[in-house]
Amino acid sequence: MQSQNKVRTVLVGCGGMSAAWLEAVRTMPDVEIVGLVDIFEEAAHKKARDFQLDGAIISTDLSSVLDQTQVDAVFNCTIPEAHYEITMTALKHGCHVLSEKPLADSMEHAREMLATAEKAGKIFSVIQNRRYDPAIRRVQHFLAAQKIGELTTVNSDFYIGAHFGGFRDHMEHVLLLDMAIHTFDAARMLTGADPISVYCKEWNPRGSWYDHDASALAIFEMTDGIVYTYRGSWCAEGLPTSWECDWRFIGQQGSVIWDGGSRQQAQIVKASGGFTSEYQDIDIPAYETQSIGGHAGLIREFFTCIQNGTQPETRATDNIKSLAMVFGAIESAESGQPVNITWK
Ligand SMILES: NC(=O)c1ccc[n+]([C@@H]2O[C@H](COP(=O)([O-])OP(=O)(O)OC[C@H]3O[C@@H](n4cnc5c(N)ncnc54)[C@H](O)[C@@H]3O)[C@@H](O)[C@H]2O)c1
Repeated sequence: MQSQNKVRTVLVGCGGMSAAWLEAVRTMPDVEIVGLVDIFEEAAHKKARDFQLDGAIISTDLSSVLDQTQVDAVFNCTIPEAHYEITMTALKHGCHVLSEKPLADSMEHAREMLATAEKAGKIFSVIQNRRYDPAIRRVQHFLAAQKIGELTTVNSDFYIGAHFGGFRDHMEHVLLLDMAIHTFDAARMLTGADPISVYCKEWNPRGSWYDHDASALAIFEMTDGIVYTYRGSWCAEGLPTSWECDWRFIGQQGSVIWDGGSRQQAQIVKASGGFTSEYQDIDIPAYETQSIGGHAGLIREFFTCIQNGTQPETRATDNIKSLAMVFGAIESAESGQPVNITWK
């Protein structure tokens, strides 16, 4: 690494989301943004101006930047369809990669990207910023302690009427691929279980402002006998849920509800024997962890791992299981049949 051991980094895809990345990096003196790339050069120039990155190379082509200067890491903030091309270019040039979700636009591409990262001996990790939130960490810790017994059933609801404009209005499987990836990844994190199979119904509600299906229902069979259901829509006006979903977790001895924000409640059996049991509320204790901070938390962890030679929590080799839930759901919706989920 050059420049007093700073991690020399190029950001590709200077659109809406990239501002959160560059804002996070501002607080990291050991990271240097040496290049900004976008197919629209003006977008890269604008980010350079907005973040006072006067010395950064501006380009429309990642390869030429990587050929011009030594680069340690690449941020992939492009649209999902470009993730494969950009990540592969970066890995083949010997760079570590931190990518926006989803990991890839197909399982074939995802497997090829993982194999390339392994061959290159580089870190390839995915931003799943909704994991890096104190509220989800608190629920995860509580569930793992089995205060409600072993989990049997998990439900999540996502209803937001999102008028984005831009690429999402025209994207196929927009809800499953661009949003449910967060929820499915959260379901894996919260249950500690992996997906086995899925049955999914996807549709575009009447009057939708999306070109393709923006609503979905999915039933997942998970390891440990857990059944996980997802109901979601990006085309639902009124009474929105949080972006983190409304959740219900049912264990053998009680239940937890979580609104995705600060409302978390747990109830367990106090006495049984009648038609219904007697219940008591129990506390969900606060939980201290370093793994918080959304994008900034994940970006910090990525650089720590580069420096220590360790692997991030959201490494692609694990994240591919969440992606497999998305593509399993898509395959089921297209075929009308339940499908087994594989990622190998
Ligand atoms: N983690 C989150 O919470 C979150 C939130 C929003 C978006 N995202 C993800 O961030 C990514 C970008 O979303 P956005 O909202 O910033 O989109 P955007 O359209 O605002 O920005 C994408 C940018 O990438 C550029 N681009 C496209 N193809 C390129 C290529 N081949 N080479 C170089 N540049 C290219 C576009 O010109 C555009 O400037 C998506 O994968 C999206 O799913 C994540």
